[in-house]
Amino acid sequence: MKHMLVTGGCGFIGANFIRYLLEESDYAGRVINVDALTYAGNPENLAGIPERFSGRYHFVKADICDPETLSGVFDAYEIDAVCHFAAESHVDRSIVRPDAFIQTNIVGTFNLLQLARKHQDRMVRFHHISTDEVFGSLGESGFFTETTPYHPNSPYSASKAASDHLVRAFHKTYGLPITISNCSNNYGPYQFPEKLIPLMILNAVEGRSLPVYGDGLNVRDWLYVKDHCHAVWRVMQSGRDGETYNIGGNSEMENIRMVEMICDLVDESLGTPAGSRRDLVTFVKDRPGHDRRYAIDFSKIQKELGWHPAESLSTGLRKTIAWYLAHREWVDRVKSGEYQEWIREQYG
Ligand code: NAD
Ligand code: DAU
Repeated sequence: MKHMLVTGGCGFIGANFIRYLLEESDYAGRVINVDALTYAGNPENLAGIPERFSGRYHFVKADICDPETLSGVFDAYEIDAVCHFAAESHVDRSIVRPDAFIQTNIVGTFNLLQLARKHQDRMVRFHHISTDEVFGSLGESGFFTETTPYHPNSPYSASKAASDHLVRAFHKTYGLPITISNCSNNYGPYQFPEKLIPLMILNAVEGRSLPVYGDGLNVRDWLYVKDHCHAVWRVMQSGRDGETYNIGGNSEMENIRMVEMICDLVDESLGTPAGSRRDLVTFVKDRPGHDRRYAIDFSKIQKELGWHPAESLSTGLRKTIAWYLAHREWVDRVKSGEYQEWIREQYG
């Protein structure tokens, strides 16, 4: 792998992955970041990277639904590996407007697969980032394994399931060298504040209400984003061709307990001039089709590739809250939409 295409590298996980790859990993090649810069894509997530890695980092603003531009990128940069993060990623948005999810997550993935296949002679690895949501919902016990049948319940998870099937089909049918990872809920620096953890941190800091869906007893398995990045790179380097790996955080938590933990940690950091932030919790109407519980069995990646999460929920959450408190400028620019004005000025 010398010329790696990373899609969606200006989003939350993609940006953390590029930072990890260039700043910390043993990867010696270059990164070509293709991102359409939707509301979720923010080049400021990679502040400093273009300057510090000018020979090894290239950014192309492009839509993965545009096969001609993508084809030019594959040719110009002699792409020999793909790490595919780009997606519409928010379940609530997929319920209101599923259209973009079908385009980006299914058609966009198909375009990338077609181009990888066209250049199959030099393609070392096509790694596809997917989600545990493709497996549907668990009851009170049990875990998702790599052989759990697919049972997606939202337009988002259905579109991700479709893309997983396409990736696997391109391996079986055309012999494309692929790997897939299905991971649980990520959290950490640079996450867009529409997702539970950054939304609750920022609302708690600002003394706003903390909207918890339904009875708050839905369970998610939280994975610190840096642990996820390590796992993805491990799979890209040493995962077996054609295989799927589940990646989880070993950190199951009911939403209401998570929100209370955030309140307590923010109270600890900022004090309680207006009383405990737990008083801000408001139970609101449930999300339609809300999956009850996700939990990942990650024993396959642990046994085969020696990976396990380094952060506990307590250490990861402390780091995350500290990051949001220390990066008020990033937060303000994201919340005010200023980052989008800047993108328009820079990229049209
Ligand atoms: P995100 O929404 O923060 O970022 C998505 C990125 O993709 C943005 O930079 C956006 O501009 C870009 N993008 C969207 N449509 C595009 C298009 N048509 N062409 C090019 N770029 C486009 O998402 P994230 O949370 O970083 O998730 C990254 C990947 O990981 C997704 O595939 C998601 O399904 C998967 N995933 C996320 C989580 C999680 O908890 N966040 C968990 C499991 C899997
Ligand atoms: O499991 C992996 C998935 O995790 C990824 O594939 C998705 O891209 C990612 O968005 C995430 O999906 P969720 O729907 O689980 O994440 P979200 O942060 O939106 O919600 C987490 C839980 O918190 C979920 O049970 C819904 C609940 N919630 C969410 C929000 C935004 C609330 O109770 N209140 C809220 O305001």
